[in-house]
Amino acid sequence: MYNTLLVSTENGICTVVINRPDKLNALNKEVFNDLDKLFDDIYHDDKVQSVIITGAGSKAFVAGADISEFLELTPAQAPGLARRGQTVFDKIENCPKPVVAAVNGFALGGGCELALACHFIYASETAKFGQPEVNLGLIPGYGGTQRLTQSCGKGRAMELIMSGKMIDAKKAFEYGIINEVTGAEELLAKVKETLTLIQSKAPVAVANVIECINNFDHTQQGYDLEIKKFGECFNTEDMKEGASAFLEKRKPDFKGK
Ligand code: COA
Repeated sequence: MYNTLLVSTENGICTVVINRPDKLNALNKEVFNDLDKLFDDIYHDDKVQSVIITGAGSKAFVAGADISEFLELTPAQAPGLARRGQTVFDKIENCPKPVVAAVNGFALGGGCELALACHFIYASETAKFGQPEVNLGLIPGYGGTQRLTQSCGKGRAMELIMSGKMIDAKKAFEYGIINEVTGAEELLAKVKETLTLIQSKAPVAVANVIECINNFDHTQQGYDLEIKKFGECFNTEDMKEGASAFLEKRKPDFKGK
């Protein structure tokens, strides 16, 4: 039913596996379409009481937006890509049923943003988090500048997003980005244990908790600025150089233009 997702529901818990392991589960258009449709179904499917999102294989949760789709985009089209990503991630964030990210490896760029759009995050000790868009002459476009700042505070978000550096699960826990670090083998079991507890509570109350917390100090302004600035990056030579260099497996030669 979905080309890029494996979906199975057991005991009310719907496990969603982003399934492009040969591309480290990078988010292409098809993944966004599949997630969009899946969450439309989840909103209304009484058999689903909660959701886990994880990545196929042992290496990655999601290693970012699919960089191979970037070079074909014009500056005029780029904001549409960011808006599409934000719309799908908003649908996940606003799901009235708990959605937990089980981060089992790299959660980079759009992958980190996807985890942050979930209601909370558990990660294996092998997980790595980061927003490496600056390496491509870009900035996060799927809500990262806003959600990471809410999650770990301005200074830490500034440092992570400006430097593009990766942090491990221990550091992400220290930063308050994730709730729990587990062994790789027990990650899904631990998430299921917590979701089983939440599923034992009143679903409407849980839905109301989600809605209230999501509306804490939310303004649209930051997201709109991000869409505009994401689009402006596509007017630079450095963005084309960064994305080309990644795909050609060489170091980028940035000119500041
Ligand atoms: N978009 C498209 N393809 C990606 C990708 C992405 N974000 N991340 C990884 N891939 C692909 C690689 O191109 C490679 O494909 P190939 O085998 O056809 O050449 C495959 O996934 C495996 O990745 P590889 O880079 O060989 O693995 P690695 O172990 O050497 O490095 C990472 C792992 C995560 C450090 C590296 O893949 C990486 O830096 N990815 C990009 C992260 C990023 O910048 N994300 C933000 C995008 S805005």
